[in-house]
Amino acid sequence: MSEPSHHGGNLRLALQKYGLGSQGFVDFSANLNPLGPPVRVLEVIKNNIDKVYSYPDPECTQLKERISSQLGVAEGDVIVTNGANELIYLICAHFSGGKALLVEPGFSEYLDAARAFCLDVAFYFLREDRNFVMDSDDFLNSARPESVDVIFICNPNNPTGMMISHDEMVKVVRGCEQSGAFLVVDESFVELSDFPDDSVIGLVKKFRKLLIIRSMTKSYGLAGIRLGYGISNSDLICNLLRKQPTWSVNSLAQLAGEAALTDSNYLARSRELIALERKLLFEGLMRPDIKTYPSNVNFILLRLLNNKISPWNFEDYLGRRGIIVRNCSNFMGLGDGFFRIAIRTKEENLRLLAALNGFQHDAF
Ligand SMILES: Cc1ncc(COP(=O)(O)O)c(C=O)c1O
Repeated sequence: MSEPSHHGGNLRLALQKYGLGSQGFVDFSANLNPLGPPVRVLEVIKNNIDKVYSYPDPECTQLKERISSQLGVAEGDVIVTNGANELIYLICAHFSGGKALLVEPGFSEYLDAARAFCLDVAFYFLREDRNFVMDSDDFLNSARPESVDVIFICNPNNPTGMMISHDEMVKVVRGCEQSGAFLVVDESFVELSDFPDDSVIGLVKKFRKLLIIRSMTKSYGLAGIRLGYGISNSDLICNLLRKQPTWSVNSLAQLAGEAALTDSNYLARSRELIALERKLLFEGLMRPDIKTYPSNVNFILLRLLNNKISPWNFEDYLGRRGIIVRNCSNFMGLGDGFFRIAIRTKEENLRLLAALNGFQHDAF
């Protein structure tokens, strides 16, 4: 029995474990855009391969301009980062030695980054009987935001897959501002969700203690080159920029980001595919030994209901068939039997369902 991986998407480990060639796997463990990168992004990378010889623009000027004009925010309110993850670490560096409040089950890098910068950490747990959806009143009343310096909320939440509505988030943003805590809303998946317009990016102009994280890695399928950005007030952005290593975002990532943002209907097409395929997966997963949790994004959290089945056997059963899923037993607030699967293309989703159909309790 092996420990579940810290993150999805580790194909090297899968290869080592199951021995199929990398082409033999379908990776449901990484929750990226199922369409893959926009074609124009791949073309830009090919056509600019000579840029690997020069240093990148340390200010990410052109990409920053494009982000700011698309989102209607000032350029000084934008920081471009080497994936959303770099931004999480910069924020924790900024609040170093203070106290953070994390929502669990949630993305594990908040905790890793908080620990790396010696933050004290408090937790607020989402309830399974509420399908892990945050209730803003309960959060504001019981999580004691006034007792911390920085709060991380992921919306839609990874790994649980549900989004808090815009109205609920406005309540949370207002409540946190009144409590004096700084709120980080990680919207890494919002552009792939059913409700992209529920983003609270528009609130940054009004609330000073608010930062929004976005991951172009997720939205545009750029995991190999990494790209993210943050939007907040310009004073905080200046502070974060001072902590960011120079040349953090490489030239090809900057060009890829610019090209991705010019593809005006790529995200709409992605959301259409995700909604359609998610429905198919939910139907296929309706069986007495599996519980699924509602999702309005590009992944589904599920739980094995038969506790005679070892989650490791389940993972291995699929792994041996070239299907990698995210074992979520190491998420705080989940435990054995929870898995996350990404929504992928029809052909790939059918392959997962076919493998699951062959999965019988007595196979173990
Ligand atoms: C909620 C959340 N935020 C941020 C990240 C990091 O994104 P990136 O790959 O752009 O660094 C992830 C990656 O899994 C994530 O799930």
